[in-house]
Amino acid sequence: MIPSHRGCFALLALLSLLALHSLHPSPAVAAGTEEQPGAEETPPFLAGAQCEPVAELASLDHRQPVPLQPTMAWHQKQNMMGHLLAIQEITDSLAREDWDGVATAAHRIGQSPQMQQMCEHMGAGAPGFTEMALEFHRRADTIAEAATARDLGSVLRATAATLQSCTSCHSTFRQEIVDFATWQSRVHASQQGRAPGREGGP
Ligand code: HEC
Repeated sequence: MIPSHRGCFALLALLSLLALHSLHPSPAVAAGTEEQPGAEETPPFLAGAQCEPVAELASLDHRQPVPLQPTMAWHQKQNMMGHLLAIQEITDSLAREDWDGVATAAHRIGQSPQMQQMCEHMGAGAPGFTEMALEFHRRADTIAEAATARDLGSVLRATAATLQSCTSCHSTFRQEIVDFATWQSRVHASQQGRAPGREGGP
């Protein structure tokens, strides 16, 4: 583990607290850079000096953070690019009245046991995320159903409803990149929040 990594997360937490009033990170930033083994070995985004702009962004972005380890975050971004591609293919196929093309693209973002498992994993540290993600995949299935029925109006309505799932999730959540220990503790805290007795869940 790179020592400055943890320092960066601790500093981020501290700066987030201070951010509403003012940002005076210089001494802490200096402390964060002390342990760097060497310029070549420390990825730039882990360097102490990089914490300040990251903390500033976090103070501006008030959406709920979804804690993710770096590999999970990259995986999620790849999924997202795939989602946008699927929507592009849906509209392109629709314009050509290629109903099979619409259904095929919609199936790629539809429900499946693998999709469910991945959404549960991605949302494990962010209450409400998984539910929103699963609702999105349910809505995508209705695009495929309408395409199979060759019903243009229904395909358009289902696509609009699916896009509404995209935009409402984007306005609610943002990624927060954390290390493994932080991810584990956030998942634990999130699961405590879902303990029996809490409203709204089966
Ligand atoms: C359940 C939540 C959720 C749903 C549903 C969702 N997204 Fe996202 N999406 C996210 C999060 C979280 C991010 C990361 C935002 C950030 O960078 O902090 C993201 C990022 C993206 C990005 C940026 C990827 C990048 O390279 O940085 C694109 C594009 C995107 N989403 C497209 C879509 C599209 C299109 C849909 C619907 C068809 C969709 N998303 C549905 C949560 C969601």
